[in-house]
Amino acid sequence: MERAGREVAISLEEVREKNLMQLRKLNSDLFPVAFPDEYYDFALASGEFTKLAYYNDICVGAIASSVEKKEDGANRMYIMSVGVLPPYRGLGIGGKLLKHVLDLCLKQHIPEIYLHVMTNNEEAIKFYTKFGFEITETLKHNHVNLDHPHVFALTKFIAPSQAKK
Ligand code: ACO
Repeated sequence: MERAGREVAISLEEVREKNLMQLRKLNSDLFPVAFPDEYYDFALASGEFTKLAYYNDICVGAIASSVEKKEDGANRMYIMSVGVLPPYRGLGIGGKLLKHVLDLCLKQHIPEIYLHVMTNNEEAIKFYTKFGFEITETLKHNHVNLDHPHVFALTKFIAPSQAKK
């Protein structure tokens, strides 16, 4: 399919209790599995790292991410989900959401960002690759109700020299 490749006016809004239903609705339209309550707790607690994307007054996409502490004490960012409703794809909205989180990681000196994506989700893998993510691991996921059993871990490392810019 040819991609439109043009940007539209999108505003990003923080997720709060009052608009949490928008994120729940979006996720149920976009993803084959329901996220646990823990996902929504992390999303609410993550502040700027979780955003809803609005086109006019319509919620058309979202990114949810959360900071984790590694065993060595360093912070890393876990992107729990990114999604854009089908009619609004190819317009730069997913990229805007992802770039928002990558820019925050740069500013906050978080050097590692990672996520999981099903190995057959070629479009999403192309999307993440465009933003500098690389496949770092192949894992078997534990959702018994999904046909496809494998996920990739994709990681992007931000070099300290980039973080200073
Ligand atoms: N085919 C090839 N490249 C693509 C595609 C595609 N279908 N979609 C995005 N890209 C790449 C392109 O390089 C594109 O740049 P270009 O337009 O200059 O060619 C770049 O990504 C940015 O594209 P956007 O328009 O910003 O992306 P979009 O708004 O369409 O959102 C997304 C991409 C989020 C992957 C969308 O397709 C989607 O919601 N898919 C379903 C949900 C999903 O699979 N989410 C990821 C699951 S993993 C997780 O959530 C952690």
